[in-house]
Amino acid sequence: MKNSKGIIFDLDGVIVDTAKFHYLAWRKMANDLGFDITLEQNEQLKGVSRVHSLEQILGWGNKTVSESEFERLMTSKNEDYLARIAHMDEADLLPGVKKVLDYLTENNIPFALGSASKNARPILKGLDIEKRFTAIVDGNDVTKAKPNPEVFLIAAEKLGMAPEDCIVFEDSVAGVEAANVARMISIGIGDSERLKQADYNFADFTEIDIDFIEKILRK
Ligand code: G6P
Ligand code: MG
Repeated sequence: MKNSKGIIFDLDGVIVDTAKFHYLAWRKMANDLGFDITLEQNEQLKGVSRVHSLEQILGWGNKTVSESEFERLMTSKNEDYLARIAHMDEADLLPGVKKVLDYLTENNIPFALGSASKNARPILKGLDIEKRFTAIVDGNDVTKAKPNPEVFLIAAEKLGMAPEDCIVFEDSVAGVEAANVARMISIGIGDSERLKQADYNFADFTEIDIDFIEKILRK
């Protein structure tokens, strides 16, 4: 099949279920500061950069902190998070993801990562899939966080594809918005009501069959 489309995957919540560990680490930090954050609030943090997540959380707790305390909180949350995901391996790929990655690899269809995370490379390495990506664009490469489309536009460029020819898999509202702003095809993974702005919706990758992938690649 002639490939004229570029595929871009978000990481957290699409390829791997790190969202719960981000939540546990942020929640521990909030609890140490004397307040709590709910799972519902956590939904709003998906796809949101580390800095913006902390600003948001401190706002919920009505806390103002000095610049150095802000830095300290970011560092300690990240250390806590990294400790929680330290033992991740191939078995932690979300169900159904391997089948799609295998199909793309076997058919020489290049794909990229477009993630807000600064921990993306070590996570992909742990999952043993880092080398399969033609391009990895992560939180270290961008200055503007999702819903700004910068991360996806850089990924498209690295794939050598026009934005309109890119397909983005995303689990966050901010990420779906970023893909839409970039005029890419957005595929929402997760709650279809929450991600109703996406062009296509699936609860998870087990719902995505190869026929669908072939169909969107041909579109
Ligand atoms: C992803 C996650 C967010 C996280 C962000 C930054 O977008 O969905 O919850 O805050 O990446 O991740 P990092 O690993 O750099 O803290
Ligand atoms: Mg995500």
